Amino acid sequence: MGARIRGWGTALPTEIVTNADLEKTLDTSDAWILARTGIRERRIGSSTAELAIAAGRSALAHAGVEADSVDLTILCTTTPDDSVPATSAHVHDALGLGGGAFDLNAACAGFVYGLVTADALLSSGTASRMLLIGAETLSRITDWTDRNTAVLFGDGAGALVLDRTADEGQLLASDLGLDGSARHVLRAPIGGAIQMDGREVFRRAVRAMVDSATRTLQRAKVRPDQVALVVPHQANIRIIQAACDRLGIDRSRAATVLDRTGNTSSASIPLALVDAIHKDRLETGDLVLLTGFGAGMTWGSALIRWHAEGTDQ
Ligand code: UT7
Repeated sequence: MGARIRGWGTALPTEIVTNADLEKTLDTSDAWILARTGIRERRIGSSTAELAIAAGRSALAHAGVEADSVDLTILCTTTPDDSVPATSAHVHDALGLGGGAFDLNAACAGFVYGLVTADALLSSGTASRMLLIGAETLSRITDWTDRNTAVLFGDGAGALVLDRTADEGQLLASDLGLDGSARHVLRAPIGGAIQMDGREVFRRAVRAMVDSATRTLQRAKVRPDQVALVVPHQANIRIIQAACDRLGIDRSRAATVLDRTGNTSSASIPLALVDAIHKDRLETGDLVLLTGFGAGMTWGSALIRWHAEGTDQ
């Protein structure tokens, strides 16, 4: 038993905030933001549930399946709309999903944590069809007067429909980890805004992604040069490039959307994956390496063997 990706979808708010817009209110510049992060603009607005619903609806339509055929939903988010109930309850109701649903918070590694969890639940027979969503409204917990963080974050969502399959499935290997002693490095207290030691996050991020990705490849007995596409968490183009260089994977093999989205935490990996699919960067049989890190500090990697339309034709 395993899991197969059957459909995908994304959602972004309509309001675009460019670096030039931020120059008007912050002591910053388009040149600084672009050179230090690779970000040109980000999308702002909506609630986490609204974005998750839109991405989930799109993924269900792409998969060609009914919402009530889903028997378990995971909403990966670090920006729930309320403390209680879980935002997935709103999504479940709005889409008419079947079975249960829960939120998962592993910050920017959240989507990889969600994918590994979904794979385990499908492989064990607990669920036969799952909806996995990463959705965030980081703009709601961003201090728009703090140039250290305001230039980095954005809102968005991405979703996958996953089916149980009789064969080994697409997830070949994974690695999840956490160093909770570093939880002070990046945090947002309840009701407050994101506080971050950017340089420390940067340093830890590269190391965590490289180590986690390396363990994952070793578990699958795959060499870095066999990886067709890396889908990294979209925090900073310099982090992505440094990780690729240390892994020995050509930078051109990294999927990136952060120039248009900024850092969307749990949504960034599915947004980058779907963007790569739309650009015809993936063929059946390709090895795809997802890798992320985030507050906690969490990290997670997953190696997937791509299957073109996802379905069992
Ligand atoms: O999902 C995880 C979320 N967080 C991250 O991924 C953050 C990881 N860290 C980073 O991406 C980078 O550390 C930043 C983009 C946050 C900062 O880049 P950096 O190259 O590490 O810059 P820095 O913090 O070393 O700051 C360099 C200079 C400083 O000025 P001085 O001390 O050299 O005079 C900062 O005050 O740049 C200044 N600076 C800015 N200048 C213009 C910091 N933020 C800005 C800004 N605009 N927005």
